[in-house]
Amino acid sequence: RFPASTDASRASDEQIHTAAERSHARKDDHVRLANSQHEAESRNAFDDVRFVHNSFPDIAVNDVDLHTDVLGARWELPFYINAMTGGSEHTGAVNASLAEAANATGISIASGSQHAALRDPTLTPTFATLREHTQGFLIANVGPSVTAAQAQQAVEMIDANALQIHVNAAQEIVMPEGDRDFSEWKATIDAIAQTVQVPVIVKEVGFGMSQATIRYLGTTQVAAIDVSGKGGTDFISIENQRRQRLEFSYMTGWGESTVLSLMNAAAVNHDSCRKPSIIQEEAQQHRAKPQVIASGGVRTPLDIAVALSMGAQAVGVSGHFLHTLMTSGTDGLIAEIERWKQQLRSIMTLLGARSVAELSKTDLLITGKTAQEAELLGIS
Ligand code: FNR
Repeated sequence: RFPASTDASRASDEQIHTAAERSHARKDDHVRLANSQHEAESRNAFDDVRFVHNSFPDIAVNDVDLHTDVLGARWELPFYINAMTGGSEHTGAVNASLAEAANATGISIASGSQHAALRDPTLTPTFATLREHTQGFLIANVGPSVTAAQAQQAVEMIDANALQIHVNAAQEIVMPEGDRDFSEWKATIDAIAQTVQVPVIVKEVGFGMSQATIRYLGTTQVAAIDVSGKGGTDFISIENQRRQRLEFSYMTGWGESTVLSLMNAAAVNHDSCRKPSIIQEEAQQHRAKPQVIASGGVRTPLDIAVALSMGAQAVGVSGHFLHTLMTSGTDGLIAEIERWKQQLRSIMTLLGARSVAELSKTDLLITGKTAQEAELLGIS
């Protein structure tokens, strides 16, 4: 259990000898560096969006129902703790605390990448602790470099209700020990989606999704996409800081913002913008469009309301909740999530939205760089 103000440990480079030790150190580095990125939340594209105020909400706080339907399940709350960690002793303890907070507040939670445990089964407890600490909706996590059998193993490792496949090419390219060949990713995602026995989400890791990406994913069997855009945790910057020299510092800021990614998804999913042949094929195969989930740079319940009103079915939060855990401990994270629940309910009341579905009918003003980019893409 995490007390307030725990510093993530850092293994010094001289101590790191084996591949396993390097992997543990990487997991600890990610948590430490991501945590430091969220010490002061910065401006991002959510600041380009605002709701239009109406003086007559016409509803009461008690009328608001926060539930959402995701991946064939009912979630009582439309936000969750998104993928982060596991794979070392320290990050196993982080997972236990995150899951405890999820369970206490009734929100869903995703595991960090389980590759480390697929390679080295002695690390399984650092992920299995998630299921030991929550009875709620739990999501497993792998990348598109594992086999379908390994993906199913990851699901079983934590008795997960769904599986995320992270697509993180931008991170891998900057990571010194990262993947260099992405040519099999689409085929691997297909194989995993056809094999695993739970719904599959394809997620970014803070670089967002273009219309081309979203259009492609709409032709696959995946149940949902998490656009996970830029604006919060920045893995290019994190991987740069882990290098001896800052090789790729000029790449910081790469990617699509979460807000623009949601606009991309809305444009792709709007039937008038889709090829009639695709719509027909979907109908023939009784295939639904992937649900849209948002994450990346979510700092407040207002950001959640904006993402939901822009068409997200649920909203994931990583960096902010990690930082809350690191500075305020497990109890502090539970208190923060409870505050967010109350405040989201208040904001929805002010907007006269009784439900997540009604939020999508509210009027938004989109300004600044986001408006300019949307105009260039023809989706404003
Ligand atoms: C992540 N993220 C992540 N995503 C994933 O699919 N698998 C993973 O193993 C990890 N690991 C990871 C570690 C840490 C410490 C952080 C903070 C994040 C990415 C995460 O799920 C999310 O997509 C991005 O962090 C953007 O959201 P925030 O942090 O801006 O809310």
